[in-house]
Amino acid sequence: MLQNEELINKISYASKYIDSQLGCIPDICITLGSGLSSLADLVEFRKEIKYDRIPGFPKTTVEGHEGALITGRIKDVSVLMMKGRFHYYEGHSIEDVVFPIRVFAESGIKTIILTNAAGGVNRNYAPGELMAITDHIGMFCESPLRGLNLDKFGPRFPDQSSVYDWEEVVNNANKTDVKIHKGVYCYAKGPMYETPAEIRMLAALGADAVGMSTVPEAITASHCGMKVMGISTITNFAAGILDTPLSHKEVIEVGVKASESLKKLVLSIIESKGKNR
Ligand code: HPA
Repeated sequence: MLQNEELINKISYASKYIDSQLGCIPDICITLGSGLSSLADLVEFRKEIKYDRIPGFPKTTVEGHEGALITGRIKDVSVLMMKGRFHYYEGHSIEDVVFPIRVFAESGIKTIILTNAAGGVNRNYAPGELMAITDHIGMFCESPLRGLNLDKFGPRFPDQSSVYDWEEVVNNANKTDVKIHKGVYCYAKGPMYETPAEIRMLAALGADAVGMSTVPEAITASHCGMKVMGISTITNFAAGILDTPLSHKEVIEVGVKASESLKKLVLSIIESKGKNR
């Protein structure tokens, strides 16, 4: 783990590099989950900043997916999308998983939408449907705030009573006729899917969906004082609900199919951001 000063310098270098590539501070950052990268097609006047050009950025481990920030405009709102994110299960340290979030905060970004693919624990949440994350269960995740506190960004013991701005997600879904559920997202370390017994446990704990991302980023963004929205695409019934085994291929395929309604929803959120400026 880096000492604070080293980490703060590392964040600052990366942020300065990104600032040098952008003409303005993006109004909103969107992290794209598995199968959801076509959201990046919405960006106009687009520019790509490959992760490997950004000093200190972690290296992506997925071959052929080098990872890049996509910047530009959507409906006259300046956006920055993260195409490719860093998962703990890939072997990244938790510090690296959330490094980009700290960098975006340093660059002055105030709002972030985190999207993900998730398994539906709630039996009423079917594959292909969307869920606004209202809260999370993050105790199975190593804390991204562990170590000396970065006072510059936020307090040592941050309140977690309202990490997600879910009302804005639900309002925009209603406005655009996109079906939306509300629910609690539970973080699982992965990379293995859960067992049926684990899913029964998560259901008893109050989880509606389960996935392997988002919570570390949400904790960090909220620690930095950012407004956080989380949207899960339910790509499958969680383990044990159906008799069939889970497959990554299916997760990606359903994610891609559902991305039209996700796009509609995200566009509406972005548009409302433009109006409220
Ligand atoms: N479990 C964990 N992560 C996931 C799932 C799941 O069922 N589906 C998509 N991501």
